Amino acid sequence: MNAPRPMWVRTRTELRDVRRRRPNPCLDHLVIAPLWPKYGVNLGTLLRTSDAVGACLAVPRKPWIRDALAKGNTLRQPSCVHWVNEPLAWLAAQRIAGSHVIGVELTDESIRLVELRPARRRTVVVLGHESDGIPPEATELLDMAVEIPMLGTGQSLNMAVAGSLVVYKLAGLV
Ligand SMILES: C[S@@+](CC[C@H](N)C(=O)[O-])C[C@H]1O[C@@H](n2cnc3c(N)ncnc32)[C@H](O)[C@@H]1O
Repeated sequence: MNAPRPMWVRTRTELRDVRRRRPNPCLDHLVIAPLWPKYGVNLGTLLRTSDAVGACLAVPRKPWIRDALAKGNTLRQPSCVHWVNEPLAWLAAQRIAGSHVIGVELTDESIRLVELRPARRRTVVVLGHESDGIPPEATELLDMAVEIPMLGTGQSLNMAVAGSLVVYKLAGLV
């Protein structure tokens, strides 16, 4: 009997050949919005996720955030980034314009990730501050919230991990 062939881990060259040559066109149908970020490293992670699922990123217009994105951007192509002046006013405007605004947060009204369906209209995914979560004034602007169930001892997940799980579901890729 032949020994089973070992699983082949795709090389960088093989992966490059099956990936897009250019970034996804900025369809703006899915927007990841870490509007109160504390750590630049999470923004770099979210930039890669947004590229992977064809989403845009919405971040506050601040010099340190621009620097963090430039540092954390390991992609070869520019990404779709919206610069936000006033997070609360921007969120309110998104709703008025007809977007579905989903908070990724542990609230008493959150649905569980397994219940979340792929987005059918333009959707803004709001992420909270790494220590304080989504501020109360902003939870009033959410259409709904989703939480990722946890079995361990930690109180919450890393913000970029939580956001990535939710947008993958919304993009219909998992
Ligand atoms: C580290 S958590 C914030 C901690 C917590 N909300 C607090 O106030 O102490 C940072 C952000 O990650 C997201 N997050 C982390 N774990 C989550 C989970 N299990 N379900 C949904 N969102 C989560 C939320 O957007 C949250 O605001």
